[in-house]
Amino acid sequence: MDKIIIEGGQRLEGEVTISGAKNAALPIMASTLLADGTSALENIPDLLDIRTIANLLRRLGAEVDLSAGRAEINSNSVENLVAPYELVKTMRASVLVLGPLLTRFGKAQVSLPGGCAIGARPINLHLKGLTAMGAEINLEHGYVQAEAPLGLQGADIFFDLPTVTGTENLLMAAVLANGTTILRNAAREPEVADLANALTAMGAKIEGIGTDVLTIEGVKSLKAISYGVMSDRIEAATFMAAAGITGGRITIKQAPVSALTAVENKLKQTGLKFDHPGQDTIVVTGPSRINSVDIKTEPYPGFPTDMQAQFMAMMCFASGLSVITETIFDNRFIHVSELERMGADIRLSGNTAIVEGVPALLGAPVMATDLRASASLVLAGLAAKGQTEVSRVYHIDRGYERIEEKLSGLGARIRRIKA
Ligand code: EPZ
Repeated sequence: MDKIIIEGGQRLEGEVTISGAKNAALPIMASTLLADGTSALENIPDLLDIRTIANLLRRLGAEVDLSAGRAEINSNSVENLVAPYELVKTMRASVLVLGPLLTRFGKAQVSLPGGCAIGARPINLHLKGLTAMGAEINLEHGYVQAEAPLGLQGADIFFDLPTVTGTENLLMAAVLANGTTILRNAAREPEVADLANALTAMGAKIEGIGTDVLTIEGVKSLKAISYGVMSDRIEAATFMAAAGITGGRITIKQAPVSALTAVENKLKQTGLKFDHPGQDTIVVTGPSRINSVDIKTEPYPGFPTDMQAQFMAMMCFASGLSVITETIFDNRFIHVSELERMGADIRLSGNTAIVEGVPALLGAPVMATDLRASASLVLAGLAAKGQTEVSRVYHIDRGYERIEEKLSGLGARIRRIKA
């Protein structure tokens, strides 16, 4: 397994260009199962998870060509309606093929994703919604067996909580259903809106995009599209934190500025300065001393859970005490014990972490455990004294395109050791 070695203490300076958003590309690639013909998707990031869903679509029988930030997908030859355990267990977002397969082909067998490092992560709300639309759902041998031989029927669905992929699965199921579907308490993440815009380009009829009530009028068929995926707000936010933690100055290009309001607001309180010289460019300047700031993760437009670990890394160096509350996942503090190995002073109590800033962290061998935890360890390594060795970096490769290349371009002393 590869490792990343970082010599801390460099102020990061220069320009970085943000890649396409993983959490928009994944549902939009799955949505091509709904379209008749070959869809061409642009701004697709080169990530492990993208290659995983491409392989899953091929396993279903779709023709998928991935190259140079572009994905061409034709699903007319899909005939295998089974998403197998060995693929779904490596990436839970594979569950996003359930809605499209069921609504277009009338049947789907998708392995239950199981839990992951950050929590139990059930898909009960996905299944409850599909059942409300008339699907027959059975759970057998670790698989969801779903059938809708007469097609899905429009339904009025209320989500007990604003699940992101749950909203995406039901949105994709609804666009080819018979009649009208209303999704209430729907997730408002920008990636959900990006999917809805891609579906609209296919000919879907969706109202309320960007709000928590989506109204979908089912249509008979959808056409293939050419579509550019939005850029990654969490990658952009991670580079903002990199400027903050190293006291550097980074120009972030192709950033989805309007999707970063909550993050920018919180980072300003820590002392970061922001300039917006162009519509998708942000210049971030880190302070000489980071202020301690409390955060509480919330569904969009609140502070994103996918930035909690990175923000905590910054607070380890801050001038006082900060309270970090994680409300989305039940186990998203795995990075805490690794940060403590570097000298961080963090106390956990349930879903709250109390971080006492310290003058410095010391580089150490640490282990990545999930995508955003690994980003927080890299950030801590950038500012720590001495050498940090992050192992199991395949976690970081799932969500960050060429991270050590981008950080090196900003002056970081970082290299990958192929194991
Ligand atoms: C999406 O996961 C993202 N993944 C996650 O990003 C992100 O952290 C999360 O949304 C929250 O923003 C993708 O978009 C591929 P949820 P998802 O359903 O959809 C509970 C990353 O780092 N829940 O909104 O799986 C669930 O257990 C990844 O890129 C149910 O109880 O998240 C969790 O506690 C990590 N039943 C909460 O809701 C359900 O049926 C939010 O989950 C569904 C969810």
